[in-house]
Amino acid sequence: MSQPWTNLYRPSRREDFVGNAAAVAEIEKWAKQWQRNKPPKKRALFLYGPPGIGKTSIAQVIAKGHDFDLIEINASDARNKSTLEEVLGKAIKQNMNLFGKRRLILLDEMDGLSGTSDRGGVSYIAKAIDESSAPMILVANTVKEHMEGKFRAILRKVKSIEFKPISTEDIVTKLDLIAGEQGVNVDPDTLFMIAMQSDGDLRSAIVDLETVSSGKETVTEDDLVVLNGRDRSALTVDILNRIFCATILREAKQTIRQSMISYDDLYDWIFENLPTVIDDPVERLAAIEMMAKADIYQSQARKNDYRLLKYMFDLMTGGVAFTREKSEGTGYRGQLDQVIMSAGLHPSKIGTSESSEGIVIKPNGWLGKDIWSKLNTSLRDVGAKWVYGRNVWVLPYYKEPQTKWRFIKTFHSRRRLKSVAQRIAHHTHISSARARTDVMPLLSYMIRNNREMYDTTSEWMTNIPESKLSYLRTGSFDKSPRDYVNIDNYAKYKQRETQKRIEEAKKQKESDLKNIQRWLDDEKKAATWK
Ligand SMILES: Nc1ncnc2c1ncn2[C@@H]1O[C@H](COP(=O)(O)OP(=O)(O)OP(=O)(O)O)[C@@H](O)[C@H]1O
Ligand SMILES: [Mg+2]
Repeated sequence: MSQPWTNLYRPSRREDFVGNAAAVAEIEKWAKQWQRNKPPKKRALFLYGPPGIGKTSIAQVIAKGHDFDLIEINASDARNKSTLEEVLGKAIKQNMNLFGKRRLILLDEMDGLSGTSDRGGVSYIAKAIDESSAPMILVANTVKEHMEGKFRAILRKVKSIEFKPISTEDIVTKLDLIAGEQGVNVDPDTLFMIAMQSDGDLRSAIVDLETVSSGKETVTEDDLVVLNGRDRSALTVDILNRIFCATILREAKQTIRQSMISYDDLYDWIFENLPTVIDDPVERLAAIEMMAKADIYQSQARKNDYRLLKYMFDLMTGGVAFTREKSEGTGYRGQLDQVIMSAGLHPSKIGTSESSEGIVIKPNGWLGKDIWSKLNTSLRDVGAKWVYGRNVWVLPYYKEPQTKWRFIKTFHSRRRLKSVAQRIAHHTHISSARARTDVMPLLSYMIRNNREMYDTTSEWMTNIPESKLSYLRTGSFDKSPRDYVNIDNYAKYKQRETQKRIEEAKKQKESDLKNIQRWLDDEKKAATWK
């Protein structure tokens, strides 16, 4: 049986270890003092921080790198005080092993100890620190706020070193390396998704990567659905608030690192809401430029170097936040009075209040049918929703990204499909909808696999006879002879209209031909006979 990847990639050298550089430097300094026989004042280290970020690993790396004989004691295994006393008591008595190698005691998983600071395991360990002639590294999976209660008895005796979550970039780099060595092809987007969802926990990121890679050569974002438990749609008002209101670049960046939303989605959300939130025109323009740059980095990153995504992040979070200076940032709230007034009402006629879902809007009384329907329309235009039952409107603080941006991205390919479908429909006397669903997939399959088929089809599709224009001459017109003083004028009108239609049809034909040709080229690229 092969090992799990977290074991396989347990760092053994300093170079394999990522993140928390300052903390590591301090530990190294401490270790060197021991090796030079000048024990530091604080004889024990206390490493603490969230899970999966390398606390245990660094103790192992340091021991190896500085030639210590590492004695690992798992405090939560030795839950029982007498066992702990026995194991630890033996260990602290000798600071050298049989071969004269200095001992380093690693007391791991202290969070598993039972009892409070004054009784049980912790108080015993406090005593052991005083008595030990060997260096000790204590490790706990805990955060600063919870330390006092449980570890008070030892805190004065040790040098505490905090370990922080690993940055998304570091995690992506590590995952990329592992995927490469394991021969799995994972696209950068997916690596980023995994990294972001791990919340700085490298171990869980590696586990996730191993999970989605099992039995696969290529992993895409779709494969991530197998990872359960974490909320992927955790985009909250809070995240956008923090991005739009961040005053410190670090704060804005931190937000996105911690959020589990994909950066594509986040981009859309910011893009959608930026014009309203950043209401000063000059600042708005600057912010939109930031977004445009972010977009460039994103597309470049996709093509060759995912490390560029870092810049995209910076630009769309910190960059956007920083352009905001004069903008009031009242967002949709600022528009509300205007909306109410445009319906012919004084704002005092409408009560508003804030709630977690958005601004709650409630009429203070009967408004009359006309005004009511006007108000309804204009509120709906700015994105408010009527909540049945509660009988209020709710205007969300941020608008969901409109599909129109995606729509623009796919505009050309949709035009292509339309031209091709219409052409087939015209030739085969079926509707273009059916041409698209029933005929095109089959046709596409045939011409990709048979060169001759491709040649005939392309001729058949690109050969549009001129005569097709003739039906235009018999078409009906908007105006009738009765609209004209004399028949001559009517005849001239008809001529003009017909000419216009012919021009239009010619243009249409040209663009259809181009579209069809592009479609055919794409099919050719995908052909097996090429
Ligand atoms: N900073 C890091 N550099 C390289 N690999 C790491 C790092 N942190 C975690 N890993 C990976 O995650 C695995 C688990 O790390 P480790 O056991 O050191 O975490 P921990 O902080 O001690 O977690 P816990 O608090 O749950 O004990 C390692 O084997 C390694 O694969
Ligand atoms: Mg550990």
